[in-house]
Amino acid sequence: MVSVAVLGAAGGIGQPLSLLMKLNANVTKLNLYDIVNVPGVAADISHIATNAEVKSFLGSGELAAAVTGIDLAIIPAGVPRKPGMTRDDLFKINAGIVKTLVEAIAASSPRAFIAIISNPVNSTVPIAAEVLKAKGVFDPRRLFGVTTLDVVRASRFVRDLRPGVDAAALRVPVIGGHSGTTIVPLLSLASTPIDLSEAEVKELTHRIQFGGDEVVKAKDGAGSATLSMAHAGARFADSLIRAINGETVVEPTFIALAADPEGAEEIRALGAGELDFFAVPVELGPEGVKRIAPLGGQPSAFEREAVAVAAKALDTNIATGAAFVTGA
Ligand code: NAD
Ligand code: LMR
Repeated sequence: MVSVAVLGAAGGIGQPLSLLMKLNANVTKLNLYDIVNVPGVAADISHIATNAEVKSFLGSGELAAAVTGIDLAIIPAGVPRKPGMTRDDLFKINAGIVKTLVEAIAASSPRAFIAIISNPVNSTVPIAAEVLKAKGVFDPRRLFGVTTLDVVRASRFVRDLRPGVDAAALRVPVIGGHSGTTIVPLLSLASTPIDLSEAEVKELTHRIQFGGDEVVKAKDGAGSATLSMAHAGARFADSLIRAINGETVVEPTFIALAADPEGAEEIRALGAGELDFFAVPVELGPEGVKRIAPLGGQPSAFEREAVAVAAKALDTNIATGAAFVTGA
């Protein structure tokens, strides 16, 4: 019995994500918030014969009500990329949007889990953390950057190379962040060993790192991944909901490493060093992050090098996000 708010519910991701949340049998209340078009989306989705009660919240005057009494806020609000843009180019607009939304959650539902989809995730999650700290309600176990699409792509792209692989069952840990070379798939530690040449590992790693660009290019100015992201967001939200309901679930997600959760040493030793945030496979429970799940083996030399490259870029992305709130 979980109450969920989708913030940015009328958007390209927001609409299919809201649909998938309405289909989730564990969701009892579904609050849909946007600054445009959300009454129509909510009216439409509300006719689906599941038990979740759907409500529409339109505009900043209804934001506080949208995030009152919720267990989980999912945030896909903000602008997407066009060809030629990086995710960091979205910072100017999306930083302020995420800050405002998290301020409202901090005031009305300070113990809610917060799952951030809005890009650039490497910076919007640090923004959220600083907002929550400033309000005195930061619990690092409850704040998540959604990196599930990288994990989903990794499984599917492996199957493109090895058609015998079951894409739905294969799990590849993807660590680091969510943009370009900060995305580090650990193909050598996949749930089922995959026999790949060095060249194939390089090719696959690059494709997973830049998978978002394939969609941006194909949509040709009409935005970025929305349907695969809605699937990934709903899968991650379902993991959080199952965790809230007492199950132990493992999912990779971008979390506050600064809080030193159990298991952080392995990731720091691998190359995350003193970084405050990093995407890692996380064991989730009713209070959120229980611990970082062990990677289950030693990453290859190629993967360790990729982590070092990721760490450098992440350091800057994280500092940019934090500074947006602290002014430091
Ligand atoms: P979109 O433009 O289709 O939808 C965004 C929605 O946000 C719109 O409905 C808009 O009205 C709403 N919005 C804007 N300002 C708002 C505010 N202040 N409060 C509430 N809602 C607001 O964009 P999209 O394709 O759905 O992408 C949304 C974001 O998700 C982008 O930043 C995109 O880069 C990101 N994204 C992240 C991932 C990931 O893996 N984490 C994947 C795909 C896209
Ligand atoms: C993705 O990975 O598809 C998203 O982050 C959207 C983007 O800008 O590529």
